[in-house]
Amino acid sequence: MKILGIETSCDETCAAVVSDGRRVLSSVVATQVEIHRKYGGVVPEIASRAHVEALVPVVAEALQEARTAADAIDAVAVVHRPGLIGSLLLGLAAAKTLAWLRGIPLVGVNHIEGHIYAACLERDPGAPGPFPCVSLIVSGGHTSLYRSEGPADHRLLGATTDDAAGEAFDKVASLLGLEYPGGPSVDRAAERGNPKAVPFPRSWLGPDSFDFSFSGLKTAVLYHVRGKGAEAKRRQTHLADQEMADVAASFQEAVVDVLVTKTLRAAEASGVDRVIVGGGVAANRRLRARLQEEADRAGIEVLLPAMRFCTDNAAMVAGLAYHYARASRFADLDLEARAG
Ligand code: KG4
Ligand code: ZN
Repeated sequence: MKILGIETSCDETCAAVVSDGRRVLSSVVATQVEIHRKYGGVVPEIASRAHVEALVPVVAEALQEARTAADAIDAVAVVHRPGLIGSLLLGLAAAKTLAWLRGIPLVGVNHIEGHIYAACLERDPGAPGPFPCVSLIVSGGHTSLYRSEGPADHRLLGATTDDAAGEAFDKVASLLGLEYPGGPSVDRAAERGNPKAVPFPRSWLGPDSFDFSFSGLKTAVLYHVRGKGAEAKRRQTHLADQEMADVAASFQEAVVDVLVTKTLRAAEASGVDRVIVGGGVAANRRLRARLQEEADRAGIEVLLPAMRFCTDNAAMVAGLAYHYARASRFADLDLEARAG
């Protein structure tokens, strides 16, 4: 079964064709990074307009790359929540139009479930299914832990009480004067830094909590970089290159410590020996290495998506939709976009 996926929940226009939930025949991502760079963040109105321009060529490219004619597609899947409402609406309009024109079923997919499914793409057909497992979603908008029973069956164990991990990376990058988007810039700068240089705080929120908090850490980085109160007015915000790399590495280590510890603790508490990580921050090299290392020690298997399926993409959407289609969980043409 070949499914065309469409994803426009934020600032990437994505389309992909995936066969039987695993084999990625194409995955096209038109990024808007250059458009939003001068604003230092995503401007929703501008994102919507860019989706309008990109959608038709991106869908055409995904079909062409997959060597699949539009009439050989069995279903259209689209992310309808959560995300920027204006952006979601455009992907939804495109998907509904295709489904109606071709007379094929429509599948509505949750973006977070998509990120969890990304680790299941291109797995060896002989490999055992990854469920049940614990799933950690770390993106620009979410930081949550779930116990996952199946591709579309997730029970929330904990979530961030303030900033998402990716948001903290983006804000710290901007404090350090690093290039937008912040996560990959901090990742690169941290490579040259000492993760033990600055003892930034780790927020555990109690020994049994699976919730997260990153705003205190962000403020600690701010105070470290600019100083407090009157001192802040005097002190230059420009750090020497090595000091900047040390702050980036120390900040990253504080985030990674909390993510790795809570994820492995959640696996232990849930009695599972497998964890999945998804979302843009799953591309962070230090997080991948530390998680792999500590999970190996604890006898837990880690499923990490390929780098290109960590950040937003439509392959995760088309892959997940296969399981909806098999369960005949189709959407009507009045499927609505939802921000939350
Ligand atoms: O999943 P995603 O593409 O979009 C959302 O659903 O939010 O995640 C984007 C987030 C951004 O905050 C970005 O800075 C972060 O993922 N990110 C990273 C890395 N690559 C992307 N954070 C840390 N290290 C990275 N290598
Ligand atoms: Zn995302």
